[in-house]
Amino acid sequence: MIAPILRDLATLREMTGTWHRAGETIGVVPTMGALHDGHLSLVAEAKKRATRVIVTIFVNPKQFNSPEDLANYPRTEEADARKLDRFDIDAIWAPESDTMYPPGFCTGVSVSGLTDVLCGAHRPGHFDGVATVVTKLFTQTAADLAFFGEKDFQQLQVVRRLSRDLDLGVEVVGCPTIREIDGLAMSSRNLLLSDRARVKAPRLNEVMEDIARGLAAGKPMADLTPRALRALENADFLSVDYLELRSCDTLALLETASEPARLFAAAHLAGVRLIDNIDVPVAR
Ligand code: PAF
Repeated sequence: MIAPILRDLATLREMTGTWHRAGETIGVVPTMGALHDGHLSLVAEAKKRATRVIVTIFVNPKQFNSPEDLANYPRTEEADARKLDRFDIDAIWAPESDTMYPPGFCTGVSVSGLTDVLCGAHRPGHFDGVATVVTKLFTQTAADLAFFGEKDFQQLQVVRRLSRDLDLGVEVVGCPTIREIDGLAMSSRNLLLSDRARVKAPRLNEVMEDIARGLAAGKPMADLTPRALRALENADFLSVDYLELRSCDTLALLETASEPARLFAAAHLAGVRLIDNIDVPVAR
């Protein structure tokens, strides 16, 4: 079935109300479009766990730090709808900007603590924008379950927190990062890489896997980071926003893998900011 593309909130509400009255569960996959296999793996998981599935497509202006980044973000709605055909989803929610943020809109959602570090420290206001739109998407779609990729692990933790703190009643399901065959984490931003930069991009994940091996053998970050930074510089990653080991739960900074941890990185390659994170086993 070809899913209807909805832009009107009243129509969406009528649909979700009917489903809930019939005892169905609604699974939502929030996206900004430019769908790749990472997104599609979330849709497949949603189809397994919910009786109705809505994919949202909205390029959220509030989470971009620069007008240029917002303007350059890929918009591929027709192709996205075609990619969703084979999943037999129930609706695509793709509101216009002034449906999401009508004139006079002045409410924001802000999650403190978890957002002070990593991307939050480098992209002021980004997570307020994410938290605000995700809260709206959850209430607009009357979601019971929502599916997010671990690729944006900090975002996943922020969304889990806000769903609990605001009693939204949405179960937030984290799904593993999907990678290209060469290890590059799938991301809509990969479309912005030149052919030359695309060849170098997997180096980020390789360097992280090297660090993770060192950490698993009990070495501290201080011993592993200088070599990793040199390797990234050699691969033309000209500025590294962060390369840090953090606790999975609290995102507190760690020096060794003494508890369940993840290694996080964000770096710029030929004008494109790439992020990645990997699980690090507790050191032997
Ligand atoms: O991960 C994304 O694509 C976005 O941050 C999200 C969750 C759809 C909110 O705009």
